[in-house]
Amino acid sequence: MTRQTAQVLSIVLETLNQEPLPALRPGDHIDLHLGAGLTRSYSLVGHAGSHTRYEIAVALDLHSRGASRHVHQQLRVGDEIEISGPRNLFELHAEAPHSVLIAGGIGITPVWSMVQELERLGRPWTLHFAARSRAHAAYLEDIETLARGSVCGRLVTHFDDEAGGVPLDIAAAVASAPQDAHLYCCGPAAMLNAYEGATAKFPKDQVHLERFGSTQTASSLASAQEFEVVLARSGQKLTVPAHQSILDVLLDNGVNAQFGCMQGVCGMCEVALLDGVPDHRDQILSRETQLANTRLIVCCSRSRSPSLTIDL
Ligand code: FES
Repeated sequence: MTRQTAQVLSIVLETLNQEPLPALRPGDHIDLHLGAGLTRSYSLVGHAGSHTRYEIAVALDLHSRGASRHVHQQLRVGDEIEISGPRNLFELHAEAPHSVLIAGGIGITPVWSMVQELERLGRPWTLHFAARSRAHAAYLEDIETLARGSVCGRLVTHFDDEAGGVPLDIAAAVASAPQDAHLYCCGPAAMLNAYEGATAKFPKDQVHLERFGSTQTASSLASAQEFEVVLARSGQKLTVPAHQSILDVLLDNGVNAQFGCMQGVCGMCEVALLDGVPDHRDQILSRETQLANTRLIVCCSRSRSPSLTIDL
């Protein structure tokens, strides 16, 4: 474990039997199973110098439901933990004529592995890396070293404290991208919202983003309504209260539901939706799939109709 910043720990995970791990692709993430039903997804930063190791970085989030606190305060060197294989929802299109990558805070983790791959392939890249201050920017020294020696890449840093508290101008970063560039963004919700607005006119297949948290806010939960979920296979009817997710209710009632991130980003809790009108709140289903109302991410989505019937 290495402290990257006051808030970010990087962690190297090594196989117990020295078996090589699956080759990673830039943008991959793994799930950490931390015990007591606590599972969270983290981007892979790299192979940490050996194919029997993965490296991740975890930012301490005092508002989290326990995973980052568990990692920072309880996980110790030598502990054994279970992880999933790598999965990728944030694919790098290395063949693009140019890649413009925007990272905010701990959002640098998948982006840093992409930059290293582009540099390895000699593909042109521009990285905009924003953080509250230099001291808050994980991997900054490594990134600056790579950029200094790069013949195909360029690093643009933005530190809020050096800019009088003004955040990175996402619109300007996007506007400076060539029209044939592929664009990537990973960072906090405000950054991603600005990115979505700024890239609205770009071809959709050139615009990529990864969220690392749920978009549910306190106000959206406060306005949530109770509804009923019907399990088609058993006919069981369960009430989902305003303050609980469908997944929580399924697990509380002993239903063997699959899950991972519990934040609507990994897709492990997806089920078939047979009836009802959902309120999709996930970040994983495509717009087309959401509009078809045939699939449901049960860890975060709710219902617009009094009842939803799912294939469980
Ligand atoms: S558990 Fe990850 S999307 Fe639902």
